[in-house]
Amino acid sequence: MRTPEINLLLAWGWLLLGFVSGMALGMGFHRENWLGGYGSHKRRLYRLAHISFFGLGVVNLGFFLTVQALGLAGWLVGVASLAFLLGAVSMPLCCVVMAHFPRARMLFSVPVLSLLLGGALMVHAVAQKDPGPDAAAQSHRIL
Ligand code: HEM
Repeated sequence: MRTPEINLLLAWGWLLLGFVSGMALGMGFHRENWLGGYGSHKRRLYRLAHISFFGLGVVNLGFFLTVQALGLAGWLVGVASLAFLLGAVSMPLCCVVMAHFPRARMLFSVPVLSLLLGGALMVHAVAQKDPGPDAAAQSHRIL
């Protein structure tokens, strides 16, 4: 599957995983001491994983819509696509790993650096984009 369609597929997959992880959290969150209690390290990291599915699903959806709306293309967009995919996959994974291995904190440098790269490349790509005469026609072409 090509860029940016693969980011759209991941976006909806991550939103679905957000609902599924919420359902899983919902199985135990009513118990006061579940996973060590509301403020415990483990429970906080599981909650962060749940939230990251939504946040990074929306980021990948935003990437897809921006590329489509502005007709962006080229290697920069390809690198940004990979960076957002890597960030989305590695963030919830890092949360679950760190929930069980608190000293694995440096693992978060993978999602953090890849998302920073993706974001910087998109700011650059959008800033560079010359709207041109048919920008209005382009902006209505989403699919
Ligand atoms: C099927 C849908 C969802 C279910 C079943 C669900 C379930 C849950 C549960 C059970 C918790 C508490 C976890 C705990 O006590 O440790 C939680 C926390 C949270 N959820 Fe969801 N969730 C859903 C959708 C969403 C959506 C769409 C968002 C935002 C875009 C979201 C954002 C959050 C946030 C920010 C927290 C942390 C709240 C806090 O700090 O207490 N959830 N969710």
